[in-house]
Amino acid sequence: MIRQTTKDDRAGIYKLYKKVATIAGGLARLENEVDNTYIDGFLDKTISRGLSLVAVDANDNIVGEIHAYASGLFCFAHVWTELTIAMDPDSQGQGVGRQLFTGFLNEVSSNYPHILRIELIARESNQKAIKFYQSLGFAIEGTFKNRIKNIDETYESDIAMAWLRSE
Ligand SMILES: CC(C)(COP(=O)(O)OP(=O)(O)OC[C@H]1O[C@@H](n2cnc3c(N)ncnc32)[C@H](O)[C@@H]1OP(=O)(O)O)[C@@H](O)C(=O)NCCC(=O)NCCS
Repeated sequence: MIRQTTKDDRAGIYKLYKKVATIAGGLARLENEVDNTYIDGFLDKTISRGLSLVAVDANDNIVGEIHAYASGLFCFAHVWTELTIAMDPDSQGQGVGRQLFTGFLNEVSSNYPHILRIELIARESNQKAIKFYQSLGFAIEGTFKNRIKNIDETYESDIAMAWLRSE
């Protein structure tokens, strides 16, 4: 089931991001960089000026989360940025990530008419995610060369993508 995130979901989201961050090549954050400051930071921003949804299993355990938020500045009021999606590795590849992302975009389309643009960045090697985002209507807008430093000290590009409201 997909539902809106509540303040009681903080612990479950923390656990989820810790687990997802143990697998290299996805999130741009190491496991030890997933802390309460990070989780509270994005949840507070989504509550005040964005949106967060969670995917939960039959026991209401959080298996996925997606969020994006506005910067709080006037000239970017129509933009949600830093979109991030994380699915529990044990629940990946089962269509739940697509359900979560589609639910997010449907919510934006229906209930946030002032949001005209949503931005995300994905590392170039994460082609699974990049193709997934393209299938949802995101387009590649540019390349930040060598922006990502991998755990093996190699560097790779970050790909900037955006979804634009069509009507
Ligand atoms: C990217 C992510 C959110 C996708 O969630 P998911 O639940 O695994 O995705 P789904 O099962 O809904 O599949 C969505 C699409 O991903 C692709 N996909 C899924 N599993 C795949 C695999 N093993 N290999 C290649 N592509 C795959 C397919 O294109 C699929 O499209 P389809 O619906 O037409 O089949 C998830 O893999 C994840 O959390 N990864 C780690 C964190 C991460 O990379 N976040 C993004 C940072 S930019």
